[in-house]
Amino acid sequence: MPVVRVGGVPDWVDVHRLLDAGDWARDGDVWTAERTAAEAADLDARLRNLGMGGRAFEVSIDPPPKRPLVRAARAEDARRRRDTTPGFTRPGAKVDADGKRFLTPEKLALALGKRANADVVVDATAGCGGNAIGFARAGCAVIAVELDADRLALARENARVYGVSDRITFVCADAVERLATLSGDLLFLDPPWGEPDRIACREVPLLDALLHAGRHFERIWVKVPPSFVGLPGFAMEAWFGHAPGDRQRVKFVLLRNDR
Ligand SMILES: C[S@@+](CC[C@H](N)C(=O)[O-])C[C@H]1O[C@@H](n2cnc3c(N)ncnc32)[C@H](O)[C@@H]1O
Repeated sequence: MPVVRVGGVPDWVDVHRLLDAGDWARDGDVWTAERTAAEAADLDARLRNLGMGGRAFEVSIDPPPKRPLVRAARAEDARRRRDTTPGFTRPGAKVDADGKRFLTPEKLALALGKRANADVVVDATAGCGGNAIGFARAGCAVIAVELDADRLALARENARVYGVSDRITFVCADAVERLATLSGDLLFLDPPWGEPDRIACREVPLLDALLHAGRHFERIWVKVPPSFVGLPGFAMEAWFGHAPGDRQRVKFVLLRNDR
């Protein structure tokens, strides 16, 4: 059977979720297993051009799978990528193009909300409201800040669709300027990720300025791309999708200073 080696897997990721549930032998950040040629090709297709924690995955298969198998695995991976955990599911919820690209899937946003354990959450970059609504549905009061007035209007309408308008205060402002005047139990930051490069997005442009502006918050959570390199003092946690197409895919990494 072919031997699959996957290098560059951070130790804070559940490898059995990311790779597969079978046996893997570990040597540092390299995981090794014997798999059928089809399984090996599938792993190669799934992890291709991906990385985590600021490093690309290094996948090697010995012997390498034959070309038709590689092609079939890549086609299947492309098909899977279209079947992902949905954003909003309630009829009437609306997003614009960027809001759709950035939207946290509803199920994950609600799970984040349930973990928040906070009376008041400040969501400094609310977008169309994916996270703000997740926190509010979990019972938190939310202050949702968004720079783009049109997008904030969509967030407001989406909160109405989800029946949580009374728990969210909407603020149209530059969070970098406004955060100093806001307080809460948890600051949530989901700044734009920049270009959607699946390996090279190791930094998030606005993040330093937001962290500085929100330095008076005791608890801070930051949603970053899987490829993000990390922040000193913050634990990293990988959040996977739920749909058949993305349940082995890391949708985002949550950085937490409240480990
Ligand atoms: C990644 S999206 C947030 C997505 C949101 N968490 C969700 O799940 O729907 C980031 C948002 O930050 C907004 N933004 C960018 N710069 C900002 C700033 N200085 N202050 C407030 N919001 C900002 C963008 O307009 C964008 O809508």
